[in-house]
Amino acid sequence: MSNSFTLTNISQLVTNNSAIGDGDLGVITNAAITVTDGIVSWVGQTSEADSSIPKTDVGGRSLIPGFVDSHSHLMFAGDRSEEFAARMAGIPYSAGGIKVTTEATRSASDDKLRNVARGLIKEMHESGTTTIEIKSGYGLDVATEERSVRIAAELTDEVTFLGAHVVAPEFSSDADGYVELIMGKMLNACAPHSNWIDVFCDRGAFTTTQTRRILEAGIAKQLKPRIHLNQLEQGDGIAMAIELDCASADHLTYLTDEDIDALAASNTVAGLVPGADFSTRAPQYPRGRDLLDAGAVVALSPDCNPGSSFTTNMPLMIALAVREMHMTVDEALFAATMGGAISLRRDDVGHLSIGAKADFALLNAPSYIHLAYRPGVPLISTTWKDGNVIFTKGDLA
Ligand code: NIG
Ligand code: FE
Repeated sequence: MSNSFTLTNISQLVTNNSAIGDGDLGVITNAAITVTDGIVSWVGQTSEADSSIPKTDVGGRSLIPGFVDSHSHLMFAGDRSEEFAARMAGIPYSAGGIKVTTEATRSASDDKLRNVARGLIKEMHESGTTTIEIKSGYGLDVATEERSVRIAAELTDEVTFLGAHVVAPEFSSDADGYVELIMGKMLNACAPHSNWIDVFCDRGAFTTTQTRRILEAGIAKQLKPRIHLNQLEQGDGIAMAIELDCASADHLTYLTDEDIDALAASNTVAGLVPGADFSTRAPQYPRGRDLLDAGAVVALSPDCNPGSSFTTNMPLMIALAVREMHMTVDEALFAATMGGAISLRRDDVGHLSIGAKADFALLNAPSYIHLAYRPGVPLISTTWKDGNVIFTKGDLA
């Protein structure tokens, strides 16, 4: 027998489907939504909801699709708060800090790694995130990278092998030797647990030539490519990322006009992670406004990691995107939901059309605009994934 419920008295229901509501966000006011067996089975006006299905009145709150976080580094141990404090006192951020986390990650047990990631996933649920990509990248040896992707695969369907985060300390004078290890033994051990491959292509990490070799090796093993690009300097990797059909190119703090036009004409999503620019005090934020004006698809993510951005909070990214990257509130909310879904090449999440997964978040606010208007305020009342409550403040009658 099927299992259905309806939420009624939703002040604004954001569907992200312009065919069923107003504007690009497809907003339905005075709305209701019905879920059947974990899938959205009906949306419309509260007054038209099927009276035979059990109802919960949400009291004029807004409902949005669950956030889709397409970029997170949750497989790690250790603490880098001192590095953050030193950075705020003037020491610039560099890719080298990754090695500090690598030491702690290598010596952590499987259970320790699992528990750190679980704790961060819980935070994500509390702030409305329902789909989570998780990267490895703090092991940098075969055994710890394998453990990282294996444990990540217990926790999510979107697992990314990032052995190419930085050159492992054992290979500090032989970067190409490390590239060979990644493309050989490490990829063999990690590919069975992963569906994505990523490389940090930037100053202090990997060159464009090394990146291409690693991504091509992953593609040959049926992994889909994504890339960290142009976080620390203006590089030349955009054309390569597009040519290899990277699903997303992330960070993009430095972009030329030509890069923006190329991304706009491609299937590669621009993954913007303003938490990293915020927490590293980058000289500038990515050109979100220009990317959107050119027609690029933008995704937002907190880029949760212990070094450059230790936050899981997507609403904060929306506030930063609006304040610092001149995106409209609608564009920022779309980027945090559908943008993330497109970046993961998923069509079942990021929107609330009939047939979508019943992944959504209820806001303690009459309008979704509050996500940017009330920065830092925990507005999420309840989060559902597959139609099940995965977080609630218990404030629903
Ligand atoms: O996405 N940019 C590369 N990797 C992480 C930071 C890693 C770290 O500092 O631990 C990021 O910002
Ligand atoms: Fe990252």
